[in-house]
Amino acid sequence: MDKKLTLLNTKREEAFLGGGKTRIDQQHKKGKLTARERLHFLLDEGSFEEIGMFVSHRSTDFGMQYEKYPGDGVITGYGTVNGRLVYVFSQDFTVFGGSLSETHAEKICKIMDMALKNGAPLIGLNDSGGARIQEGVVSLGGYADIFYKNTMASGVIPQLSAIMGPCAGGAVYSPAITDFILMVEQTSYMFVTGPNVVKTVTHEEVTSEELGGAATHATKSGVTHFACANEIEAIQHLKKLLSYVPQNCEEQAPAEPYEIGDEKRLKLNEMMPENANQPYDVREIITEVIDSESFLEVHKDFAENIVVGFARLAGRSIGIVANQPAFLAGVLDIHASTKAARFVRFCDAFNIPILVFEDVPGFLPGTDQEWNAIITNGAKLLYAFCEATVPRITVITRKAYGGAYDVMNSKHIGADMNYAWPTAEIAVMGAKGAAEIIFKKEISTAENPEEKWLEKEKEYSDIFANPYRAAERGFIDEVIEPAETRVKLIKAFKMLENKVVNNPRKKHGNIPL
Ligand code: HXC
Repeated sequence: MDKKLTLLNTKREEAFLGGGKTRIDQQHKKGKLTARERLHFLLDEGSFEEIGMFVSHRSTDFGMQYEKYPGDGVITGYGTVNGRLVYVFSQDFTVFGGSLSETHAEKICKIMDMALKNGAPLIGLNDSGGARIQEGVVSLGGYADIFYKNTMASGVIPQLSAIMGPCAGGAVYSPAITDFILMVEQTSYMFVTGPNVVKTVTHEEVTSEELGGAATHATKSGVTHFACANEIEAIQHLKKLLSYVPQNCEEQAPAEPYEIGDEKRLKLNEMMPENANQPYDVREIITEVIDSESFLEVHKDFAENIVVGFARLAGRSIGIVANQPAFLAGVLDIHASTKAARFVRFCDAFNIPILVFEDVPGFLPGTDQEWNAIITNGAKLLYAFCEATVPRITVITRKAYGGAYDVMNSKHIGADMNYAWPTAEIAVMGAKGAAEIIFKKEISTAENPEEKWLEKEKEYSDIFANPYRAAERGFIDEVIEPAETRVKLIKAFKMLENKVVNNPRKKHGNIPL
């Protein structure tokens, strides 16, 4: 037995070294942790159980049979995060650049199958040069197997991807199918083809960072939901994100204990600017309404005209979607629509109630938006709200104009409770524009057209720049004092706790992609 145990321990030690000490040192020099160190920081102490430590590749081309590393460039297994089960894979860049071989893919697939069967989140720590070039088509097949399983698991278990190094080629598409992507600034990249190929094909000169760094994907493309300063911050974000989501689509997200106290927030009565065209930061309203310091903003630097993120209300996890008057007046455009639509669908898939703060002047006009399909993209948000069956509440703080009134979780498309502050204006459009259209003749033939326009603007505004017309119809359930918002929401979400809505049976819907 002693001899056999010595052999086992020697093999384990070999596996712990991955691609060897020199490559580990190189990894550290780049400011990166190793695959095992990342797991150490992610999982509860002593909870990690590794699966497949001695798996090695089967390739024999290019002398590969003489270069084998136990584990084959990916560490897989399960463990707990704050006591909750998760399945993990962590790619080891020190072994063939974390590239994906046939066996590397099999290890990931095995873990994915287990996560799906046992209903627990899957976390991927990605650090990979893509398909293992020496293996050819079998590595491409391995990627396709992963994409297929990602898709099958979508909406069943939460799938989170942290990008911890260069991710090229196939390595970007698996994360893209998962629910959330986190990137690390300066040390992680995502691109379908790197700067060299770009130069050859399009003659553009671009650095890796510009092409596919965390800042690029957090602001320009929206591919990543979080850009983190370093790997530790990324791991902390992963843990925080997990705290808002359930284990699978059959469960509720964990709630934190909460004692009901004085829930009035008088500060909210002071927050709306005197002038309806003056911007304000909707995050200040969110902060005042939710449990203290509970907001985890998603896609913070992308499509800033809409704010989305997770929060807690009386201890329970909710998803928030809010127009942001401080950026482009909170207008809905292509990026804002797709950002919010994806978030709404995630919340709906995983039983997370949705709260909407609405202050929106409408959809953004112009050729850029029309030619890039604001119609199709705006429809995504509409579709996402229409099909969502989780508890849904809207608070209209100020403007609810035009199609955007319908889209932003209106009563008509299935919201459960719709509140309006006394400052709400619910109309087809702003009073100035409305007067110009419907009183065009009267204005143009008036002795003083400017004065007439102002008079007609006031007339329209007096009728519609308030929440009462909508409340008379029951489109608004209650007009509330802003200070009461928190208490109303706590009570209403509690009332909706057992909501059941079954949409018509179908194979799947056809969201306008
Ligand atoms: C095999 C690879 C590899 C790969 C890197 N390595 N990528 N081995 N297959 N795809 C190995 C290197 O040979 C090297 O081995 C070690 O990993 C580290 O690589 P370096 O180049 O020294 O590191 P660095 O300078 O940091 O550059 C990292 C990199 C670069 C940007 C990822 O290696 C690179 O561009 N790799 C190729 C990326 C790529 O084109 N992949 C295929 C994509 S096609 P040693 O022995 O020196 O340590 C694809 C198709 C799937 O994925 C499509 C599905 C839709």
